Amino acid sequence: MKSSYYNLIIILLIAATSSSSFSSSSSTASSWTDLVDRTCKLTPFYDLCISTLLNDPQSPSADTHGLAAIIASDLLQSANNTLSSIQEMISRSPPDPESEQPLAYCAEVYIPIVKYSLPQSIEALEKGRYGFAVYGIADAEKGVQACEKRVEGAGGLDAVKSWNEAVREMADVALSIIKVLQGN
Ligand SMILES: *[C@@H]1O[C@H](CO)[C@@H](O)[C@H](O)[C@H]1NC(C)=O
Repeated sequence: MKSSYYNLIIILLIAATSSSSFSSSSSTASSWTDLVDRTCKLTPFYDLCISTLLNDPQSPSADTHGLAAIIASDLLQSANNTLSSIQEMISRSPPDPESEQPLAYCAEVYIPIVKYSLPQSIEALEKGRYGFAVYGIADAEKGVQACEKRVEGAGGLDAVKSWNEAVREMADVALSIIKVLQGN
């Protein structure tokens, strides 16, 4: 009992004296975690923000600008995946007028989002032109909302509804982080 108590004190002393030699690497990691945490708290979807940034291999060296770039590129990927999936549904499903028209409409809406709005927004972000970056993402959100309206009443399109929601949430996260950059 007594010896384990002394062992604990020795371990704590060693930890206290040696921690300074690790401080440079651990403070880099913790300041990055702090930045991610602080930034994600300013967005409406904290969990989505955190998990996206933690899953990105580039994250540890990123500043707020880098975090916005990661989210924006993830947003483009998410929109692109949605478009591919919608196109797949169109080509795979036998013509069902109830879902065919909303799907075709949504594909038409997503094509310019993936081809122009979001890539242009990412480019603007890279150049520090935050107003343009916001414009592209807001434009994409408008398209997603139009698709949402169209699939709202249609049956059998729950998957599209959840993809739309995921894209819109990521867009909201991106807009919140760009707002932080605009305020700096
Ligand atoms: C979208 O995904 C397709 C593959 O499904 C890929 O060929 C294309 O480059 C992607 N576009 C963008 C803008 O990422």
